[in-house]
Amino acid sequence: MGLYPYAERFPVVRDFPEHGRPRADILREIEMMATEEDSPYHEGKISGSIYSGDEAHYEFLNEVFGHYSHANVLQRDMYPSATRFEGEIIAMTADMMHGSAVEGGTVCGVLTSGGTESLMNPLLVYREWGRERGITNPNIVMPVSAHPAFNKGAHYFGIELRRATLTDAYVADMESVASLIDENTVALIGSAGTYPHGLIDPIAELSALALERSINLHVDGCLGGFVLAWGEDLGYPVPVFDFRLPGVTSMSADTHKYGFGLKGSSVLLYRTPELRRLQYFIQPGWPGGLYTSPGMSGSRSGGIIAAAWASMVSLGREGYLAIAGDIFRTAAELVQAVQALPELTVLGEPFFNVAFTTTAESGLDIYLVNDYMASKRWRLNGLQLPPAVHFCVTRPNTQPGVVERFAADLADGVAYARERVGTAARSGALYAGTMTDQQAEAGMAWWLDATQALPPA
Ligand SMILES: Cc1ncc(COP(=O)(O)O)c(C=O)c1O
Repeated sequence: MGLYPYAERFPVVRDFPEHGRPRADILREIEMMATEEDSPYHEGKISGSIYSGDEAHYEFLNEVFGHYSHANVLQRDMYPSATRFEGEIIAMTADMMHGSAVEGGTVCGVLTSGGTESLMNPLLVYREWGRERGITNPNIVMPVSAHPAFNKGAHYFGIELRRATLTDAYVADMESVASLIDENTVALIGSAGTYPHGLIDPIAELSALALERSINLHVDGCLGGFVLAWGEDLGYPVPVFDFRLPGVTSMSADTHKYGFGLKGSSVLLYRTPELRRLQYFIQPGWPGGLYTSPGMSGSRSGGIIAAAWASMVSLGREGYLAIAGDIFRTAAELVQAVQALPELTVLGEPFFNVAFTTTAESGLDIYLVNDYMASKRWRLNGLQLPPAVHFCVTRPNTQPGVVERFAADLADGVAYARERVGTAARSGALYAGTMTDQQAEAGMAWWLDATQALPPA
């Protein structure tokens, strides 16, 4: 689908309209677009993106959202309910991440607008932590598989990012991490799990190293936090990655992913209030009054916060365990489906997000396999370095029959790739390594421009 599929179907608004349109008319148009756009996820063919997919759950959250959609939580005196929701969301997430293991029960947190903000804030905090210790040229060490929001934060805040290599099992190589640390290193990063391969870095070892070097460790559970946290209780061998490890100083987990809330919320937890304090912003001496905010956002919608809270208390531990159980089971079945094809191989040992590629012996292009899958409406995510794809399992993928359809289409996809050896894949162009970084950057800048512009007249 192109960027402007509606240019032909609806009038393009190029100037501020003189007169308003009837609400019913607008709603009809909105409903048409939203229904069509949502249809692929109902089939269970989308990797990631739609985490709950339970229509009744969404309807309930939308009702909750409606009560506070207009509320600005910056005005706490008007909306003390936001303080209740926020405090309770943080308490529930801290409990899920075993915050009680920390002596003195000091784990605390903030609610942010999403994973990116939950990764950028700790970078700022650790830069400030370094400043207090005389470090003016801070660096942070993270595995190459960590999310680009860290690169973005480092870019915004003037922090040097050092990127460690991965082992053959696609997790942080501890030797590489250790070799990059110096006296200006303020923090290490690990993920549970990583976006590309869905894997859990050796967090216990990162924790020990952070303690040994007296530096901080952020565990990025933005994607995996709210699903992996239930793995232990479900009997899966998920290693400990939370506050039970003494070197973990902060963690992120997105309520708008496997927390099943609405888009626009994430939880960022700190081991101590002293760390959290470093991200607060307080501006005295402004004619507009004393300005304070806990994080990057100014005004924030009370609706999103209320919906995140409602999602958590309506499902409870029991509800999350049940959905996570289905996700773990489906991911294991997907692993089996991939492994049943000798031309394919799974990267590492995933629990919920299954990355796979073609074997070297097969000589097949994984992007050609992905082309075929896309023609069958599967939306997998393309990876690079090495070329691969992943299927991040969410609740809609756990419906009966999805794995069976996937397995059958995947076998056909391999046959399709075999028939086309040597031809260029459509889906992998960006990842095929034929572009220079400059070409890729120029291409993506063009794309970003286009996503914020009108279709050509
Ligand atoms: C591991 C990980 N961290 C952080 C993020 C960033 O989250 P967001 O897109 O909500 O900013 C993602 C997004 O997929 C992720 O997979």
